Amino acid sequence: MKPIIIAFFNNKGGVGKTTTVYHLAHMFPQIGYSTLAVDLDPQANLTSAFFNEEEIAKRLENPITGENIYSCIEPIIKGIGDIHEPKPIKITDGLFLVAGDLNLSLFEDRLSDAWSRNYEGREDALRITTAFYRIMLKAAESSESRIVLVDIGPNLGAINRAVILSSDYLVIPMTVDLFSLQGLQNLGLTIKNWRRYWQTISQRNPNPPIPIPSGRMKPSGYVVLQHAVRLDRPVLSYEQWLNRIPKEYRHSVLNSDEKKKVKLSEDPNCLAQLRHYRSLISMTHNVRKPVFNLQPADGVIGEHAQLVKMAREEFEILAKAILKKMEDI
Ligand SMILES: Nc1ncnc2c1ncn2[C@@H]1O[C@H](COP(=O)(O)OP(=O)(O)OP(=O)(O)O)[C@@H](O)[C@H]1O
Ligand SMILES: [Mg+2]
Repeated sequence: MKPIIIAFFNNKGGVGKTTTVYHLAHMFPQIGYSTLAVDLDPQANLTSAFFNEEEIAKRLENPITGENIYSCIEPIIKGIGDIHEPKPIKITDGLFLVAGDLNLSLFEDRLSDAWSRNYEGREDALRITTAFYRIMLKAAESSESRIVLVDIGPNLGAINRAVILSSDYLVIPMTVDLFSLQGLQNLGLTIKNWRRYWQTISQRNPNPPIPIPSGRMKPSGYVVLQHAVRLDRPVLSYEQWLNRIPKEYRHSVLNSDEKKKVKLSEDPNCLAQLRHYRSLISMTHNVRKPVFNLQPADGVIGEHAQLVKMAREEFEILAKAILKKMEDI
């Protein structure tokens, strides 16, 4: 069975992409879906969420080819061959990771160059453009993962273009502010252009064909990261931006000209509004666990215990909302 690839994307930074992927990567296996997390952001923040510095340093000193994304694409970058077989790292039962790497940014230029050469029907260019897709397919197969969650950086560059092209679904994490809304506008337009490009290029698969993505990139919806309750924030402007999201998403991302006003709390495209977990989030960084797995021994006491319970409910609801949007699970 083919895995389902979901990319978490917004070209606005700091909107909760990595945190959401990290939590869902732990939640999906708990509700019965084996999961592969893939860190395709050269900042490698998702990898740092899974491993402490000591563990990362150890892996850098004794690298195992295939465990991190750079080692998988290294032959392409050096111009000496196609991808290396990925070897996803087991985190827990039903959860694997292809780790990130700062060197991933070295791939940006090769991807840009391949993008234009695809028009000439060059097999080498198609292999470069589809490298991430083929790595994810192989990694999901060897780890027996049903779902692939991909974390990417906040930009519309060549790496992200290749990742989004490879994905079946897109989830858009966002915060409530002007720039997040602006982000939706250029996101919709960009996805439309990439989809059109792929319709042409995918016809040029050589014979025998190589595995290439369908270019579906279907938007599943958005996830709103709520702001921390702060007395010095103007609540009115928060509400103002919040209620503009449903229409902007429909218009810019779904290309719908439906005029009906929908409140965010009733918008079928809103997958979830995530609580701001304040100090619990720094606790997750210290012990390398998602909020909903924190224990009293990790320092969870008093009202925090209630928040941990709420986090479990919240991420389970989000995971199920994402599953519900899939046509083929
Ligand atoms: N639900 C949450 N509650 C509290 N803090 C959060 C929550 N989600 C994310 N954060 C914090 O917000 C900041 C940005 O989150 P995160 O790194 O996940 O965003 P991002 O979109 O991946 O950022 P980038 O664009 O840099 O990759 C981090 O400090 C993170 O710990
Ligand atoms: Mg991130």
